[in-house]
Amino acid sequence: MNREPKGILLCGGLGSRLYPLTRTTNKHLLPVFDKPMIYYSLSLFMIAGIRDILVVCGPEDRSHFERVLGNGDQWGIELQYTIQQKPNGIAEAFLLAENFIAGHPVTLVLGDNIIHGSNLSTILQTAVRQAGGATILGYPVKDPSAFGVVELDAEGRPTNIEEKPANPKTNLAVPGFYCYDDQVVEIAKSLTPSPRGELEITDINKRYLDEGALSVVQLGRGIAWLDGGTPEGLFEASQYIQVMQERTGMLISSPEEIAWRCGWITDEKLEKICASGEVRAYSHMLQNLLTYSGSHSAGSR
Ligand code: G1P
Repeated sequence: MNREPKGILLCGGLGSRLYPLTRTTNKHLLPVFDKPMIYYSLSLFMIAGIRDILVVCGPEDRSHFERVLGNGDQWGIELQYTIQQKPNGIAEAFLLAENFIAGHPVTLVLGDNIIHGSNLSTILQTAVRQAGGATILGYPVKDPSAFGVVELDAEGRPTNIEEKPANPKTNLAVPGFYCYDDQVVEIAKSLTPSPRGELEITDINKRYLDEGALSVVQLGRGIAWLDGGTPEGLFEASQYIQVMQERTGMLISSPEEIAWRCGWITDEKLEKICASGEVRAYSHMLQNLLTYSGSHSAGSR
């Protein structure tokens, strides 16, 4: 039986910390420099080798996401959509996705998380192909109290995990990239809402921790984890992408480039995309891939 890992891309929430920017536009469709925010989270699945993805979004936003992302065919992936009626928490996504998950391992990515850095594809590919249990990431931040926070023992094994603790015991925050075996659906079913009225992803992670089945992969200092949930975060993320792309002449999180490097679309299809005007803001950088590399096999992911 085919047990390829599947992906859930969660784009729910009201984006209220970004009002008035998000009154009519879903947060995940706002620009991060030259691409919609959702391109960055979608790209994480693609570099991790996950091609079967369910986008979970609010009822008013579904048609917008469909217009921006389509069915994924243009990038050699498969996208489906489902609705989260209310922002009832991240863990609700597993209940909404039960039929989609259908016994497969599943990775959930939050649509406002941007992760970039060297060797990231290898790190994420290993995390999504774990044999059973759950794997989360750990990343040092200045202000961990805004996030899930994990404590590790001397061997790097998790000993405790807390959601937005007032007095964090470590500086290791948990980014929005979570990998689970298919048990996650039953665990989600048994959760009760937290004091803020949400089904918490941290409660799922706690359950795996209690069973000794939670692993933490620490992201090194060569990796950037940004999120676009506040005006400052959004601005910083745009600046980061602009500076890195301008210096190297290489795109960050272009689904077109990743699909081409993975061999999911041909040189001809990439040419066509460039010529179509669909990616006018960065088509010159895509075109350079063809000019300088000749073939997708020449490029590293
Ligand atoms: C959520 C999770 C938190 C995690 C963060 C990553 O926070 O609850 O554990 O560290 O995403 O972005 P929220 O989006 O509710 O602020």
